[in-house]
Amino acid sequence: MWQGAARRPLTPCDLAREEAIRLAEEAAALEENMIKGVLGRGALGAVFEARMPCGRLVALKLAPPGSPEEDMLRNEAMVYLVLQELWNKDVPELLLAGPLRAFRSGYALGTCLSPGRPLQEGDADLLPAALAILANVHARGVIHGDLREENFLVNEAGIAMGGAKTIMLFDFSHSSIDSDKEAQADEVD
Ligand SMILES: Nc1ncnc2c1ncn2[C@@H]1O[C@H](COP(=O)(O)OP(=O)(O)O)[C@@H](O)[C@H]1O
Ligand SMILES: [Mg+2]
Repeated sequence: MWQGAARRPLTPCDLAREEAIRLAEEAAALEENMIKGVLGRGALGAVFEARMPCGRLVALKLAPPGSPEEDMLRNEAMVYLVLQELWNKDVPELLLAGPLRAFRSGYALGTCLSPGRPLQEGDADLLPAALAILANVHARGVIHGDLREENFLVNEAGIAMGGAKTIMLFDFSHSSIDSDKEAQADEVD
């Protein structure tokens, strides 16, 4: 009988690496004709709407090669990987992250395009949900670093069917890995 080398079980670190490779392949496969328009504007410039060959819609952030924005997007991708358990619930799913071949190179980060609007005055009912998201993010050792109304997305689509508003937190370009309880408490204040 064939006696192969014993395979050690996959660790969370292996899984994160495999996921990072898959996300980089998706970024490398981006082509200019997948961009459908501009979704919004943030601190890093335009955020584009793109459609992947599988049909999924992506909110796409792009950075020129070697720019400070590229470092911020790399940081944001790493944080989304740390927050993988919260994807599609508290934060959007990361769909692609890595160096580009199109657009004369650079770096791309794409999250699942979520319908909704920014948090507004009058959304006081969403405060407990927003704090619960923040607690889940902190529990994974992440400080968001840029908590603002525009970085929360409120989805009211479920109300018509008797459901409630839902809320997500995104834009982790200013985030850091910091399990310090004091730093986390400062962010809640
Ligand atoms: N996954 C997403 N789904 C829907 N809209 C998004 C998504 N990501 C970004 N946007 C839109 O683009 C804007 C800027 O995105 P953001 O990640 O905050 O970029 P920046 O780092 O430039 O501030 C957001 O305020 C929002 O309107
Ligand atoms: Mg933002």
